[in-house]
Amino acid sequence: MNNTKQIAELVEPFAGKPGELIQALHRVQSELGYVPLDAQEEVAEIVGVSPVQVYGVLTFYHFFRTEPCGQHVIRLCMGTACHVRGADRVLQALSDELKVGLGERSEDGMFTLEGVRCLGACGLAPVMMVDDEVYGRLDPNKARTVIREYRDNQE
Ligand code: FES
Repeated sequence: MNNTKQIAELVEPFAGKPGELIQALHRVQSELGYVPLDAQEEVAEIVGVSPVQVYGVLTFYHFFRTEPCGQHVIRLCMGTACHVRGADRVLQALSDELKVGLGERSEDGMFTLEGVRCLGACGLAPVMMVDDEVYGRLDPNKARTVIREYRDNQE
């Protein structure tokens, strides 16, 4: 099944329903893991909105991805407790180490970096998760070390 046909089938229940754009995009993402560019155009046409509107929704809601996920997903908490305890500095360190911004995948395909709201572990702030593993009381060095350990274990 080619991508276009697959998208058409997935989005068919939302055809001509601009109010259900988000549900249509959810459906595509849960099937493909992300919403690629060609799918964005296809969804826009079927649902009956402009490609710019689709793009606007995808960039507004952080849970949507427009590129495939890395092998490991880093979720850095940007909630209040983590923010107060230096999540910005941790983010800077992760961005430098991985050479990506939030929502992006590292060039080697190993990591996707995401910012999330409270992870429910405020006592450990600042906190990030790598896949299902929680890393707390982070500082820039500790965050970099975690990434390097994943890389070392990969080799
Ligand atoms: S604010 Fe970061 S875990 Fe709650």
